[in-house]
Amino acid sequence: MRRSVILGTGSALPARRVSNAELSETVDTSDEWIVERTGIRFRHIAGEGETTSTLATDAARAALAAAGIDAGAIDLIVLATATPDQTFPATATLVQAALGIPDCVAFDVAAVCSGFLYAVQVADSMIRAGAANRALVIGAETFSRILDWQDRATCVLFGDGAGAIVLEGQAGPENGILSTRLHADGRHNGLLYVDGGPSTTQTVGHVRMKGREVFRHAVVNLATVMGEALAAAGLTAADVDWVVPHQANARILDATARKLDLAPEKVIVTVDRHANTSAASVPLALDTAVRDGRIQRGDLLVLEAMGGGFTWGAAVVRY
Ligand code: UT7
Repeated sequence: MRRSVILGTGSALPARRVSNAELSETVDTSDEWIVERTGIRFRHIAGEGETTSTLATDAARAALAAAGIDAGAIDLIVLATATPDQTFPATATLVQAALGIPDCVAFDVAAVCSGFLYAVQVADSMIRAGAANRALVIGAETFSRILDWQDRATCVLFGDGAGAIVLEGQAGPENGILSTRLHADGRHNGLLYVDGGPSTTQTVGHVRMKGREVFRHAVVNLATVMGEALAAAGLTAADVDWVVPHQANARILDATARKLDLAPEKVIVTVDRHANTSAASVPLALDTAVRDGRIQRGDLLVLEAMGGGFTWGAAVVRY
C-alpha cells in the first residue's frame, strides 16, 4: 500500500512578539481576561517585509532541512491560507519561486483554520494516486492584516506564523498518514467570516466572529471528526499518543479532550505563545512538539481543526 510519510517539519514566526499587556495599551482589554478566557499570553505579529509567503518560505526551508532533501525534489506545493500575499496568483507559486523550484504543481487551499487539514488530504490523495511523489504542505497566515484592531472580541485572539511538512509517497511503510476526514457546513458563514472580498467590496475586509456560538460548534464537531478519523484507521482514542489540535482557545482543547476521554497531557498546546494562527496553527504546533522532543518517530498523532465556513477535519498519522 502506498502511503504519505512525513519526512520533516518546519515552522516560522514573525520577529515581533506581542504580550497581552502590550495589547492592552491600545485595546480595551486585560491580560487577565485574555488568559482566563483563551489561554493566550503572546502572539507574533508580522512587520514590514514579513508576509504570508515569506513566513511560508522560511517554514518550508526548515521542513526541507529536517527532511534532508533539496527543494528541487518537490513536485507539489499545497499551501493553506486565508491571507494570501495577493488575491492571485496563489501564494504557493511565490513559495515555489522563492525556493527556486523550476517546475512543480503549486496551488492554495482556502478553508481558513481547517486549511492545513484540507491541504493534507489533497496532497495525500495526489500522492497515493501517483500524481505527486514529494509534497510541501504548508499552512501560513498573516491574520494581523485582516483584524479590526478596534474590535477587542477578535483582535486579541489571533497571531501570524507558518508551519510546513514534507510528505513523501512510499510503498508499504509502517508509518504515514493513516486516515483523513473533512467536513463543511456553509450555513454557518455568518458566525465566522471576513466582511469583504474582491467580488463584493473590492477590499480585503476584516474578521468577524460570534465567538460563543463558534465555541459550541467547535467542541462537538472536533470530537466527532476525531472519532471518525480514528475509526477509519481502525483505532480508538486509547491508541493516541498526541493530539495536535488547532490552537484557538485552551478551553476548547480541554473540552474536546474530555469528550474523547483523552488525558490533557496528550494534547499539544501552543495557543499560549502563538494565539490562533488559523491555517498555520496545526503545523506550527506539530513542529514545536517534534523539535522539543515530545513527538517521537512511531507515535500516533491526531491532527484536528475547525474554522470559518464552517469547515472542520482530522487526520490520523503514524509519525
Ligand atoms: O479559529 C476558528 C475557531 N474559533 C474559535 O474556536 C473561537 C471560539 N470562541 C472562543 O474562543 C470564545 O468564545 C472567545 C474567546 C472568543 C470569547 O470568550 P467568551 O467566554 O465566549 O466571551 P464572550 O464573547 O461571551 O464575551 C464575554 C464578555 C463580554 O462582555 P459582557 O457582554 O458580558 O459585558 C465581552 O464584551 O467579555 C467581553 N469581552 C472582552 N473583555 C475584555 C470580549 N472580548 C474582550 C476582551 N477583553 N478582549
